[in-house]
Amino acid sequence: MLTIYSRIVVPFDGSVLSQKALEMAIKLIEQDKRIELDVLTVVNNEITGKPVYNVELQQESQRRAAAELQTTIKEKLALLPNRTRTIVLDGDPSKMILEFAKENNSDLIIMGSRGLSGLKELYLGSVSHHVVQKAACPVLIVK
Ligand SMILES: Nc1ncnc2c1ncn2[C@@H]1O[C@H](COP(=O)(O)OP(=O)(O)O)[C@@H](O)[C@H]1O
Ligand SMILES: [Mg+2]
Repeated sequence: MLTIYSRIVVPFDGSVLSQKALEMAIKLIEQDKRIELDVLTVVNNEITGKPVYNVELQQESQRRAAAELQTTIKEKLALLPNRTRTIVLDGDPSKMILEFAKENNSDLIIMGSRGLSGLKELYLGSVSHHVVQKAACPVLIVK
C-alpha cells in the first residue's frame, strides 16, 4: 500500500464520512512521511433548490465556511512531518475533484460514500458515484 500510493487526496465537505476519510488518510500517511496529502473542499456554485436572493453573498459565505473548515484541518496536519496542503476551489464538486486529482498526479482518492446534501442534491452520493466512475486512479470509499 505505502509503496504504491505516494500522493493522496481527500475531498472534504465537512460531513461525518469525509472526516472519517480524512482520519483514514492521516493513519496511512503516519506510516511513511514521504506520502503527501491534499485536502480539497469544493464550493459549489451551482444554485439549485430554494430561490437565492443574493448569489454573491451566498457564495461568499460558502467560501468562508470552507476556509474555516480548512483552518481546523490545517492545525491537525501541521503536526505531521508529511507534506500536506489544504485547498478550496470553486465549481462543480465532482468535476473539480477529478480535475484536481489529474493535474496533481494524485494516486489515491479517499472519500466518503455520502456527504452533506440530504435533500439538496438530486441523487444521494452523486459526487462519490461520479468520482468512482471517472477517476483515473483508485478510489477508497469510506462508509
Ligand atoms: N463540495 C465538496 N468538496 C469536497 N468533497 C466533497 C464535496 N461534496 C462531496 N464531497 C466528497 O464526496 C463524499 C460523498 O458526498 P456526496 O456524493 O456529495 O454525497 P451526498 O449526496 O450524501 O452529499 C463526501 O463524503 C466527500 O468526501
Ligand atoms: Mg453532497
